[in-house]
Amino acid sequence: MRGNVEPLTQDEIRKMKRACRLAAQTLEYVKAFVKPGVTTNEIDQIVHEHTLSLGARPAPLNYHGFPKSVCTSVNSCICHGVPDDRPLQEGDIVNIDVTHEVDGFYGDTSAMFLVGEVSERARKICEVAKEAMLKGIEAIRPYGTTGDIGFAINKYVTKKGFFPVKEIGGHGIGKRFHGDPFVPSYGKKGRGEKLRPWTCITVEPMINETGAPIRELPIEGSDVKVFETSDGSLSAQYEHTILITDTGYEILTVP
Ligand code: MF3
Ligand code: CO
Ligand code: CO
Repeated sequence: MRGNVEPLTQDEIRKMKRACRLAAQTLEYVKAFVKPGVTTNEIDQIVHEHTLSLGARPAPLNYHGFPKSVCTSVNSCICHGVPDDRPLQEGDIVNIDVTHEVDGFYGDTSAMFLVGEVSERARKICEVAKEAMLKGIEAIRPYGTTGDIGFAINKYVTKKGFFPVKEIGGHGIGKRFHGDPFVPSYGKKGRGEKLRPWTCITVEPMINETGAPIRELPIEGSDVKVFETSDGSLSAQYEHTILITDTGYEILTVP
């Protein structure tokens, strides 16, 4: 990977903030539509139209051949779930991952949504995923490292009895959707890549219910892979885009 490691100018930071705010607005908007009976294709349509209405472009669409405007990852799907015609059912948990491109800059954010009443276990994994993301964000220091973030996430997730996904994680973001550095959900303090002021990263831990291996499935016509748990156990994820400042950080994907 490359890109996104050069400090942004004040003007670029303004653009980045706008893309992130609008992405967060779309994620907030879609929440009201997530209920039993709605299909993930309908969610895709809602995200697509809302994104355009804000003057943004849905970045997943045609990204390395990805066929939809949003990722919808249900239950055992870890990430990159492709919207389809299956209606969501009471008890499902779904990650909706929205990325907007506005004026050449990207804002990337996701959250878990509970479909009707869900099991205690399903509710718990969502809660732990959200808190894991926040623990990772709180570990960010200018000139700290990606390992500081991974360490904080892994420590919290394992203490709660869940399993962080090691193969995939966060990324540099800015003028490119995905670039350096890789932001892992495990690691050692002080290891990994340096966090530079006035660059942006995502923190987006994926956590699983069991330590079973993860499985990759192809998407027709795309280089993007869908990831899922191999044993059908649950997976959950939250994501924010973060600006690293000279004194700390700022969460940009807030409405
Ligand atoms: N939004 C995802 C991420 O957090 C990437 C989706 S790429 C797509 O990095 F092609 F699947 F849309
Ligand atoms: Co991301
Ligand atoms: Co995302």
